[in-house]
Amino acid sequence: TTNRENFRPLYHFTPQYGWMNDPNGMVYKDGVYHLFYQYNPYGSMWGNMHWGHATSTDLVSWEHQPVAIAPDALGTIFSGSCVVDKDNTAGFGAGAIVAFYTSASDRQVQSMAYSLDNGRTFKKYARNPILTSTQRDFRDPKVFWHDATDKWIMILAVGQEMQIYSSANLKDWSYESSFGEGQGAHGGVWECPDLIELPIEGTELKKWILICNINPGGPFGGSATQYFVGTFDGKRFVNESPEATKWMDWGKDHYATVTWNNTPEGRHIALAWMSNWQYANNVPTTQYRSGNSVPRDLSLYTSAGETYLKSSPSRELLELRGKEEKKCSFKVDRTYNLDKLLSDNTGTYEIEMTIKNRNAEIVGFQLFNSKGEEVDIYYNLVEKKFAMDRSKSGIVSFSPDFPIVTFAPIEDNSEMTLRLFIDKSSIEAFGDDGRFAMTNLVFPSEPYNRISFYAKGGSYTVSSFKVYKLK
Ligand code: FRU
Repeated sequence: TTNRENFRPLYHFTPQYGWMNDPNGMVYKDGVYHLFYQYNPYGSMWGNMHWGHATSTDLVSWEHQPVAIAPDALGTIFSGSCVVDKDNTAGFGAGAIVAFYTSASDRQVQSMAYSLDNGRTFKKYARNPILTSTQRDFRDPKVFWHDATDKWIMILAVGQEMQIYSSANLKDWSYESSFGEGQGAHGGVWECPDLIELPIEGTELKKWILICNINPGGPFGGSATQYFVGTFDGKRFVNESPEATKWMDWGKDHYATVTWNNTPEGRHIALAWMSNWQYANNVPTTQYRSGNSVPRDLSLYTSAGETYLKSSPSRELLELRGKEEKKCSFKVDRTYNLDKLLSDNTGTYEIEMTIKNRNAEIVGFQLFNSKGEEVDIYYNLVEKKFAMDRSKSGIVSFSPDFPIVTFAPIEDNSEMTLRLFIDKSSIEAFGDDGRFAMTNLVFPSEPYNRISFYAKGGSYTVSSFKVYKLK
């Protein structure tokens, strides 16, 4: 039998015990990254939502903290955000961390709480709720400071749209506008919004991105993260390409993505919940359920006149690398096998490769183990897509929605780079420095320790292939 604690990720955050879904309230203050999260401390399935809490100074190693916010008479504590109130606009105290969350009972309302001890303890605001509605789905407040209008902005998920509010004091909020009708994917409810301004690589320009998590209605079923690119003037978000549907990650296990507030160097660091509502409650782990993605730095790039999100693994992940275990280059005419990726493979490693001189139609490889479990990863250069097939990856039978091939559209680059982050039960692929990302869970009964490359309809060169064990 498999020891299911073996599936617990090493360098992805998981709760020690109990259930976790969305990352919440991420905020940086005084050298510390705070991560709060949707948490059930009483069991490893969804329910009894609290805000769990963890802290880190480097985004890759986390320290568990006591529960930050617990249910009360207004309901359980759903998703939300935190800001640092430097100028004491709310009157709780300069530098207070102010948390916004949804109080959920038979109705959903917005509430706030504040911390005067750097997030250690929170006190709920005496006049909660601060925002109510007759809408049933009314949740997940993301609050941020908007420089240009000198105001706080709140973006809220309401049914299948996002609503924008503004405030001078974090307590009184005025409705500004709604966004959503006729825009993007509408296969399910919109949840967990974010609104951030990002630079476009290689230019002096910036654009606003509205992050919109949707469940169901993702490209491969269930939950996923879509986004819109456009302008925001403090009142209204305008989508510059209303015709386009854009996905932030092309795997099945990337949801509830939001970014850190108040980060140094103006970085926009995103974190996703690494699961899917289709089967999150049934994945074969015990004592705990769900981990987060690796942190990703967001920026923008332009391709054929459209602006897209780029999610690159945050540079802190480089710190996890042990010494390089394998380094080689080779040509693939038909197949090329590399045995033993790592001498002592405990299932946590990174592969980095560059592919050149390709005239093949399919450039692919299988990661596999001695049990015959495998993940097939390939570029189909005719159809211009990158794919990951986890149908034979290990334990897949807990849900009919789990065994699946996911694919991402790709550009036609003559040189292709790929970084794969493999942890005990996940694979995150980043192509061309994050121009596409794909995050999928896998539950192999032993680590994949071999790789076999194959070419169809031609050949290619792997000009650089490196494996690092991750700490
Ligand atoms: C998204 C979500 C949020 C909600 C939370 C409840 O996964 O449904 O909309 O606030 O989870 O746990």
